[in-house]
Amino acid sequence: MTVPVISISLADGPAGELDLGRVRASLAREGYAYVRDVPEDFDYVGQLSRLGAPAAQFDGAIVREVRPEPTVDNTVFSASNTRELMPHTEWFEYPSHPPRYVALWCVRQTEGPGGETTLADAYSFVRTLTARDREHLLSSVYPWQPSAVLRKLGIDFHADHPLLERHGGDVIVRFPCDDRCARFDDLMERFLTAGREYFAAHHVAVKIEERAVLVWDNWRMMHARNAFTDEVRHLRRLLVSATV
Ligand SMILES: [Fe+2]
Repeated sequence: MTVPVISISLADGPAGELDLGRVRASLAREGYAYVRDVPEDFDYVGQLSRLGAPAAQFDGAIVREVRPEPTVDNTVFSASNTRELMPHTEWFEYPSHPPRYVALWCVRQTEGPGGETTLADAYSFVRTLTARDREHLLSSVYPWQPSAVLRKLGIDFHADHPLLERHGGDVIVRFPCDDRCARFDDLMERFLTAGREYFAAHHVAVKIEERAVLVWDNWRMMHARNAFTDEVRHLRRLLVSATV
């Protein structure tokens, strides 16, 4: 089941500026904000940085080009190919805290079917778990490593994190998607199975249009992507640290 997407139009707002009040209200209410009708020359990085400081991507770049790359085939899970992506939260495996917000905007959308970014509320999902499982998820620490794709690029690290972490007054949900945990156990297996079922039943699907930006709370929301065939699809991604 797909639930309707709530969107914000910038058509009537101050020229060239995000309506930060409405964006924050949508982030707090829905866990995401989908902002449409942005001007042609919109300063995505400058405007989204009003939510918090940009965080570097895995290769040090501030903006990541998200499009099919000839070197990444569909045998692996990667934003750089055309296959479906499993639900996950961004940066779940890296050392330190994940970015608070992830923003995606569109340079060129597919003509054909698929390619939607999908989102579901992990806080609501976690509330469906037993109190005992939630306590174990807060206290069980797992070892993490880079994906096989990143290891091939020479990126290496080791990190230890729980799947649920209290941070300030908030909770960080880490929802992994593939081979980046070195030790799966029963609790992890049940968390993943139940989370994927929740995602399938409760997600929104956004085919991000040109002149639009989707931003979500990455501590709260799981995201994924539907497969697509038209290789012109080109998005850009910005990671934003916790609000300062
Ligand atoms: Fe992702």
